[in-house]
Order: sequence, then C-alpha cells, then structure tokens
Amino acid sequence: MSFRIKNNIFWVGIKDWELRKFHGNEYSTYRGTTYNSYLIKEEKNVLIDTVWAPFSKEFIDLLSKEISLDTIDYIITNHAESDHSGALLDLMKEIPDTPMYCTKNGTNSIKGHYHNDWNFQVVKTGDTLSIGNGKELIFVEMRMLHWPDSMACYLTKDNVLFSNDAFGQHYASEFMFNDLVNQNELYEECIKYYANILTPFSMLVDKKIKEVLDLKIPIDIIAPSHGVIWRENPTQIIEKYITWANNYQENQISIVYDTMWQGTRRMAEAIAKGIRGADNNITVKLFNASKYDKNDIITEIFKSKTVLMGSPTIGRGILTSIAAILEEIKGLGFKNKKASSFGCYGWSGESVKILNDNLEKAGFSIINDGIRALWNPTDDALKKCQDFGKEIANNN
Ligand code: FEO
Repeated sequence: MSFRIKNNIFWVGIKDWELRKFHGNEYSTYRGTTYNSYLIKEEKNVLIDTVWAPFSKEFIDLLSKEISLDTIDYIITNHAESDHSGALLDLMKEIPDTPMYCTKNGTNSIKGHYHNDWNFQVVKTGDTLSIGNGKELIFVEMRMLHWPDSMACYLTKDNVLFSNDAFGQHYASEFMFNDLVNQNELYEECIKYYANILTPFSMLVDKKIKEVLDLKIPIDIIAPSHGVIWRENPTQIIEKYITWANNYQENQISIVYDTMWQGTRRMAEAIAKGIRGADNNITVKLFNASKYDKNDIITEIFKSKTVLMGSPTIGRGILTSIAAILEEIKGLGFKNKKASSFGCYGWSGESVKILNDNLEKAGFSIINDGIRALWNPTDDALKKCQDFGKEIANNN
C-alpha cells in the first residue's frame, strides 16, 4: 500500500514481513525488512529504485495502481544490488526505453546482473536532473557505501535525501516513519545494520557524510531504501553514523566462546567474574557462538573495547562456530579493539594460539598470550581464569 511522504513524493515499496535471512543466509532479520521504492510526481514522473525480484509482480501491480507505467519519465537506480533492482527486468519489459539514471559503475553492475543494455544515463556527483515545478534531483555518488555503484540523490525544494542503503534498517513496520516506531527497536536495527554491513567502510562513511554536510543543504527527510523514513530530527541518524564511523566503543568486554564438555564455558564464566571483580563499571557479556545469532555477536563486538575468544582444541584446531566468527571479523576490519583468548585442551592444545593469531590478523591488539586449562578446569585453574579476567579488565 503506497503512502505519501511529502507533497508529491510517495512510497511505493514492499514490506517483507516474513524475511528472516538477508544476503542469502548471512544476515538475520528478526523484524523482516522493507524494500523502499519512491515515486515523485511532478511535471516529470520519477521512480527511485525498485524491489527484490520475488516481489516484482506485486510491486508492478501496486505501482500500476499509483501511476500509468508509460507516464514514468525517469528511473533512478541508486544501487544495483538485487534487493533494489530485482524488479527492473519485469518493469523494463513494460517501459523499455525509459531513461535510467545511475553511476558509471552502476551501468556495469546492472548489466552484470540483468544482461540488458537499457537506456542508461550516467551521472556523477553534482549532476542534476530537472523534474519540473522548479525542482531538481542532485546526484551524489556514494562509492563503496557499500558497493562501487552506490549513489544517493537529493530533491531540492522538498529537501529529501534518498540515501539508498545508508541510514537504513532491516525493520518492517506498519508505521514507516522514525517518530512513530519503538525507538529501542529502531536503534537496535540501525546499529546491527551498521556493525554488520558498513564497518569495513567506516573511513569512507565519515568522509562522505562530511562532504554532504559541507554542501549545507537543508535536509527535512532522509528516505533510505530499507526500513523507516527519518522525518523527525532526521540528522540524528547522520550524527550516529559519524559516531559509529569513528572507532566506536562502549565500556564493554565481550566473551565469545564455544564449548564441548563445558570446560571452556566454565573458563568463560570465571573470566567474567574476574573482570567484574576488578571493575564493576565494565559491561561484560558472554555469548556461546554456536547458540547465539552471529550478527548479534558482531554487533556486540562492534560495541566492545575488548573481545575474548574461547574454544577448546579439537583436531589441532578450533570449533567451527568460533572459526566462522573469526572469518567474519577478519572481513569487517574492526579498528582500535583489544583481544585475547582462552580454551581447554587435553593434549596438543593449539586453540588459544590459533585464536590469538587470527585475532591479530583481523587487526585486534593482542593483550597477552591467553590462558589454557588442561582437561576439565580445576578450582585452581578457574582461579587463574579469574586472575586473567582481572588482568584483562585492567588493560581494557
Ligand atoms: Fe546493498 Fe539494500 O542493498
């Protein structure tokens, strides 16, 4: 069901209430998501982005109720990833010659996905498109935020920034405006989205936001391509992004472990006790990586000053749930975080060194050599874990 955002701007997207995994199976979406497409009806009619292919028919049916498709003058493709471009194939069968505005990289990725040579109109930062009634769309390349083709556009007079993935959340809601939804839910989804998707590009986020703010354009609404639209104090999410992009930390230590026969779990709990005993102001959280959502763990690591990773030794290696988290954080490139490791062993005992080596390769500053416990930890071994926790707290 479409709705008006402001004046002649309408949301014509799809709410995907049922989605529980995004990016294949890589990203958990407990609250579903939305694929936001926008229709501007001025002297020229403009469609900004589409939706994921499984909703293509539904999208086009709904869009046809809002506007006769052959009166769409321009299509803006801010980003070629399938969740926003998936309906293009069906749509372009209906209106094949409609000019499609995108970046140079956009033409490559759209052609790469759909193998069609549509009427591409390449734009770069600062280019404008007049849409009548004195209004213009101004294009802003958002290269690597988060794909090479990513772009935003800004509608003058209405002062709306169509930011595409930036400032979005995987959050389906009946309300669709930031002032109408539960603020805790909203910000949980925002920080998860940032931590899991945008962390690798933090330096670019900071630079691009400063570039946009330097333009001194009034921003009344930020309309992202996922989740709710920011209309009340819209720059609050820009301020959050600046904070998150600059080596964000809370006074938190996350202990991420997996365990076979509960020994490494007991070590984790003893370490947590040691940290709390040394400094009650530190938030300590424990996560069994095989039972806890991977993206939520990444979000907690994003918030932490220090991360302790625990695994028993198995087959000269580490447990697979921990290996998966290590692979993930290697790609995300966290900065300015400390780490160490722990784990039980029976004979060869390689796990702790493997964990520390991998954390170092992932860019963490390693506090010490970690701690191991032979077989099932004794009271004395657990006391050593508490002392280890104290040392970590003092180095946090
Ligand atoms: Fe990069 Fe929402 O797609």
